[in-house]
Amino acid sequence: MRVSAMRVWKMLKDSFGRIIDYARISLTDKCNMRCRYCIPEEGVKKRCHDELLKFEEIYFLLEILKELGINKFRFTGGEPFIRREAMCFFENLNIGEFYITTNLSADNLDIDRLNNLNLDGINISLDTLNPKKYTWLSRGWYLKGVIENIRNLRVKNIKLNAVIIKGFNDDEIKPLINFANEIGATMRFIEKMDFLKDNLKYVPLDKIRKNLILDNIISEEKISPKNSAAIYHQQSAGKGKVGFIMPISKPFCSTCDRIRLTADGAIKLCLFAEKSLNLRDMLREEKNKDEIKEILTKTAFAKPRAPKINLQTESMSAIGG
Ligand code: 5AD
Ligand code: SF4
Repeated sequence: MRVSAMRVWKMLKDSFGRIIDYARISLTDKCNMRCRYCIPEEGVKKRCHDELLKFEEIYFLLEILKELGINKFRFTGGEPFIRREAMCFFENLNIGEFYITTNLSADNLDIDRLNNLNLDGINISLDTLNPKKYTWLSRGWYLKGVIENIRNLRVKNIKLNAVIIKGFNDDEIKPLINFANEIGATMRFIEKMDFLKDNLKYVPLDKIRKNLILDNIISEEKISPKNSAAIYHQQSAGKGKVGFIMPISKPFCSTCDRIRLTADGAIKLCLFAEKSLNLRDMLREEKNKDEIKEILTKTAFAKPRAPKINLQTESMSAIGG
């Protein structure tokens, strides 16, 4: 009997030696909210249902990515929970490390089911604790429901994300840390990237970080988990950490270990790069697993070293945060 040779696949690696073992997968580029720094006023382009990867197609790609050594998966949007049956999709997943990024405010979001997903962590957008500002920034949503949902979460490793905007929420650094502290979460501050012509000004975060050390709100020692986009410090008064993501003033490209899959099935090698490969068409042309792995391996090799940052025509919600 002839035994066909089984190819052994290596981990995805780029031409700069960076190992890619983390995939961010967007389930939809739509969001219930329209945060001013993320989505233009007119919303995102409508897509036909057929343009999106079907859940079965995503499951199939996840198997391929796992076989290529990816062991950490984060599901994003837009807002992942506004995709119909997203919770069922999550409940039937079989992956390594499992994370979700959400605004926690989709209608009918079932927090009990979310708590039972056995997540390794969850990231929640929380830019302000002021109800009026929250409604202004999200163009019409209410802070109250989100806070209620956050308080009902029973998930380990909760991170609250605030994009810091000059003159808007740069006075809320300490209250946000206190809130995170109170619920045992990590608070992360993010430098705003200019994806849209929105007139919202970014704040360099390193000075804020240093001042928090001087005020003894966070410990002096930096904690930098492997390939993390954030620099963390321990909160002095609580169990949680405080993180700083500084894509503008301190880019973290040299340790970038991630690729992105957009909701329409394209691979993005960098947040700022063009889409490089459309896996959806390949799946629908019935390419087999090995053919797709081969193409993915070649594509990953071309991951750019650092982005050319320029204003995009595509909103952040289309890329998956
Ligand atoms: N700059 C920085 N972060 C952004 N996000 C969305 N748009 C931007 C931007 N312009 C991030 C926020 C949000 C997540 C969904 O994506 O962290 O919470
Ligand atoms: Fe939606 Fe998050 Fe973008 Fe706000 S930042 S519009 S909540 S995807």
